Amino acid sequence: MAGSSPELPIVVLDALMPTAQRLVVNRRGSMVWEVESHRGHYAVKVGYPIEATADWPAQPWTALAPAREGAVLHRLGFDDFAYGEWERGTWNFQPWHEGPDLYQVWEPCRRRDPPIEPHAAVALGCVEALAELHAKGWAHGDVQPAHFIIGPDRTHLIDLALAHGRHVPEGYDFPFRGCLVHYEAPEIARSVLATGVAESTQEADIYALGATLLISATGWRAVEYPDDAPRALQRRAVAEGKRRHVKAPGALGELIDAMLSHAPEDRPTIYEVGKALS
Ligand SMILES: Nc1ncnc2c1ncn2[C@@H]1O[C@H](COP(=O)(O)OP(=O)(O)O)[C@@H](O)[C@H]1O
Ligand SMILES: [Mg+2]
Repeated sequence: MAGSSPELPIVVLDALMPTAQRLVVNRRGSMVWEVESHRGHYAVKVGYPIEATADWPAQPWTALAPAREGAVLHRLGFDDFAYGEWERGTWNFQPWHEGPDLYQVWEPCRRRDPPIEPHAAVALGCVEALAELHAKGWAHGDVQPAHFIIGPDRTHLIDLALAHGRHVPEGYDFPFRGCLVHYEAPEIARSVLATGVAESTQEADIYALGATLLISATGWRAVEYPDDAPRALQRRAVAEGKRRHVKAPGALGELIDAMLSHAPEDRPTIYEVGKALS
């Protein structure tokens, strides 16, 4: 995309015939657009490969991510979406979910000193969204504050590109290489360090949800490492479980600690988390 301003692929324009469009993000091989059309209001995701740089190897799989997510949406039984290919990679569109994300919603709580206890109802909405996925036999793989959209009627868990559970067409599949290190469970970090890939699990989702709730409620990451540390060093700190001594206020604090348990089998299931919150 260097030099020119990004445009929606022709196939997507043909499919949706937008009446209005806005580029939401363009980073790391992925563009997201908000599109209005006579068909409805959609998020359009467009993937392209990341070329190699001096300090970054090429990442061809970012081109496949939107189609992989489309295949997951299909497997999950959603209907108002589509996906396909364009010259540089793949694309999908899916319903646009209006609303702030979890990090935005809890900002007023964490800006107080000390932070005040956030509403359990919002946390419960996030838990319900993840529970729905787990009940269908899937792990999300990329749970983070920006992926929970707190809508007026319900909370949506977005970005299913890294979800694992049932079969995904081989042509669009790629191995799980971990997620944002802040939310990565120790066993995932350890596996990525050792082999470059990992197995995405529901237990790792629980850890990621704990880290997500913690940072949203307090502004602090679960694990201690410098902001500018190289990613491998951050992963080592996570793998070693260098837990920062910070606790979310109220009952949430204990629950998050349990979710951040080092051993996956010590973490509560999503149903237990839901029960504890309600
Ligand atoms: N269905 C959706 N509804 C509303 N906003 C969305 C939707 N999908 C993506 N977004 C917005 O685009 C951002 C990036 O989308 P995401 O699915 O996380 O893709 P990626 O991580 O590959 O860039 C999200 O954080 C959110 O702001
Ligand atoms: Mg994302």
